[in-house]
Amino acid sequence: MGTQRTQVAIVGAGPSGLLLGHLLHNAGIDNLIIERQSGDYVLGRVRAGVLEQTTVDLLDEAGVGARMHREGLFHDGYDLTFGGARHRIDLHGLTGGKRVMVYGQTEITRDLMDARAAVGRPTVYEATDVAPHDFDRDAPTVTWRKDGAVHEVRCDFIAGCDGFHGVSRTSVPEGGVTTYEKVYPFGWLGLLSDTPPVSHELIYSNHERGFALCSMRSMTRSRYYVQCPLEDKVEDWSDAMFWDELRRRLDPATAATLVTGPSIEKSIAPLRSFVAEPMRFGRMFLAGDAAHIVPPTGAKGLNLAASDVRYLSRALIEFYAQKSSAGIDAYSARCLARIWKAERFSWWFTSLMHKFPETGAIGRKLQQAELDYLVQSRAASTVMAENYVGLPF
Ligand code: APR
Ligand code: PHB
Repeated sequence: MGTQRTQVAIVGAGPSGLLLGHLLHNAGIDNLIIERQSGDYVLGRVRAGVLEQTTVDLLDEAGVGARMHREGLFHDGYDLTFGGARHRIDLHGLTGGKRVMVYGQTEITRDLMDARAAVGRPTVYEATDVAPHDFDRDAPTVTWRKDGAVHEVRCDFIAGCDGFHGVSRTSVPEGGVTTYEKVYPFGWLGLLSDTPPVSHELIYSNHERGFALCSMRSMTRSRYYVQCPLEDKVEDWSDAMFWDELRRRLDPATAATLVTGPSIEKSIAPLRSFVAEPMRFGRMFLAGDAAHIVPPTGAKGLNLAASDVRYLSRALIEFYAQKSSAGIDAYSARCLARIWKAERFSWWFTSLMHKFPETGAIGRKLQQAELDYLVQSRAASTVMAENYVGLPF
């Protein structure tokens, strides 16, 4: 068995693991990332791309923000469509100058992978049977299998950054984790195309046929979504069917200007609210999707992952620099306070915008009234805007 030693063993090379690894590297803390998939596979996943200012700041702090600032798009607002008309939510005006950055998560992952390669910190890709051990003791280890051999790394801490289906959370002994979960009765069918976005800002649409979202990756690449039944298969949806359905869910003026083209990617994602508590188990910490999932309405997933990593990197740096475990001890409670607020917002925005067949005609009327109130009341718009741009730390 090949044995090595590091300070922090990070399970998972998604945005959480890579960003944590880089922040620790910058502070001179040795770390090893162990990832189940190949690098190309990780880069092939298409996910939401709206960054809160605090996420932009953290990427800058890590020193990986240069391309984001060149290619990303700052957005000062977005539109809500309902009842055949578009209404703008002025994020900038309502929040005293805050805005969001539109930059694809795939691009962030690529920037982080490049930065890690440039400084020569190691990542093991295509590791199988990854397993954390002894995190309830002083000397935890992570083991994995690769190329027919078993490998082990001894470490001070394990960071479980291995997503919702990861091994870290499920390695905690029975009874050690409490989970809260809600699965929504529909999915999002997403389509990526090299076509100019229908609008220069995002459009969230509430329609009697179901929710739709117009987003983008750049001024020449669009990302669109329509709410679909969970049982639907991507193969059932031709590009033409998708474009027809999207057009029907937009206001007529917007639908008339939609530019369509062949899809580059098409996929169906389920919607889930999920939180695992606590997020620390002795010398193992969970961060990002390993500990929580939000439905994508509002794009909080990556921002929450970044917020966990901000707390965890600071806590570990404080531990090594000052021999203080104050940050480590506070980690779980600090993260969860932010997480639950983002869970609440994502659940609320999802409930407001989607078609819920089981709530019937009264459910739809109540949604319409709330949307009307939201765009007419500055107080209500402000609540929405301050959550969308991200709550303060
Ligand atoms: N061993 C090693 N790696 C694993 C294992 C395992 N047993 N299980 C999963 N992984 C890897 C996955 O292959 C993936 O690359 O962990 C990584 C987790 O990455 P993400 O799922 O992207 O999670 P995270 O880094 O927390 O990023 C959160 O991603 O899902 C979006 O909306 C979410 O934006 C948020 C962000
Ligand atoms: C996306 O661009 O993929 C996206 C944007 C905003 C959301 C969700 C997804 O709320």
